[in-house]
Amino acid sequence: MTAICEYKPGLENIPAAQSSVSYVDGQKGILEYRGINIEELADKSTFLETTYLLIWGALPTKEELQAFEHEIRYHRRIKYRIRDMMKCFPETGHPMDALQASAAALGLFYSRRALPDPSYIRQAVVRLVAKIPTMVAAFQLMRKGNDPIQPRDDLDYSANFLYMLNEREPDPLAARIFDICLTLHAEHTMNASTFSARVTASTLTDPYAVVASAVGTLAGPLHGGANEEVIEMLEKIGSVENVRPYIENCIEHKSKIMGFGHRVYKVKDPRAPILQKLAEQLFEKFGYDKYYDIALEVERVVEEKLGHKGIYPNVDFYSGLVYRKMGIPTDLFTPIFAIARVAGWLAHWKEQLGENRIFRPTQIYTGDRGMPYVPIEER
Ligand code: CMC
Repeated sequence: MTAICEYKPGLENIPAAQSSVSYVDGQKGILEYRGINIEELADKSTFLETTYLLIWGALPTKEELQAFEHEIRYHRRIKYRIRDMMKCFPETGHPMDALQASAAALGLFYSRRALPDPSYIRQAVVRLVAKIPTMVAAFQLMRKGNDPIQPRDDLDYSANFLYMLNEREPDPLAARIFDICLTLHAEHTMNASTFSARVTASTLTDPYAVVASAVGTLAGPLHGGANEEVIEMLEKIGSVENVRPYIENCIEHKSKIMGFGHRVYKVKDPRAPILQKLAEQLFEKFGYDKYYDIALEVERVVEEKLGHKGIYPNVDFYSGLVYRKMGIPTDLFTPIFAIARVAGWLAHWKEQLGENRIFRPTQIYTGDRGMPYVPIEER
């Protein structure tokens, strides 16, 4: 069989699906979920309302939203067997690995084969959206040697997650800002983890395997793992004066500056200025962070040196500063990205089930052919 188009490393510009979940204009810096601008959603919506929008394609009515929130609230608890399994994870293990294993473990408890049936889809969405934050918080407490705490039914989605993580009720501003962060990270067209989710979904395996495979893909430093590396980079730079030599050194040695660049955006990622403003609101209430000055200088120098190549801050550049100010440990930044992105993955899972054909691309073979088998003693 011959390939129908030229090979593009990283499948750049090759459509992998038809989708109506989200839209990006990388030249103008526009992101929309189901046609609604991200700035408007960040300002007016909540993460759960946005999740509903992404998955079911339209904003919920008041009754629909209340019913969805209610179901999520009562499915937050995880089975004691999953909690006990997580207790056996090494505390030095990365929380993304713990999340991948525990998301996959949900599939042990619920039916295997995916069905394009509305009640099956609803049940899977509710379980995953409700339980993923509980598993992230449980691993955090257990690796510190503590027992995980139960979700609180009187708290909203984001406030409850921060409560389970820190064992105290969060400040309302911090909870609202955290919820906006989830909205901003909920979906982003055909990125690597979403592609991974769709490929896995196309085999009709269960949604827990779909999410587990997407979590594994998100973990890498070129994707969701970049937010963690941004903070490590700012710590390494250490002062505003060190920014220019650090960036020049990266450029000279062709090493990537974390939190910059994007396959699609050739201007500043529209989520970055929103996150920047959220960071500033937190600094105003809870005190300044000297890493913000370093970050601003990094942005200035990178724009000066690499702006002509279309390299600007992406979503990961300022998100870490927001989470850091909330006292969240650096290695939880990517699991938090996953908590949000579950919404997008599940929207694509549902869409894939609706028009499914198994993914089976081709390849361009570059190896030898017709080689003899050489007996081991003659090699
Ligand atoms: N720092 C320095 N140079 C860069 C960067 C960067 N962060 N990103 C791209 N470039 C340069 C790259 O060196 C190349 O230059 P040249 O053409 O001279 O060889 C050119 O820009 C194209 O780079 P690429 O790696 O081919 O671009 P890509 O579309 O394959 O990769 C990317 C996109 C996001 C993986 C990449 O920009 C990168 O590695 N960024 C750093 C990691 C990061 O912040 N990732 C988060 C991405 S956004 C959120 C998410 O997906 O989770």
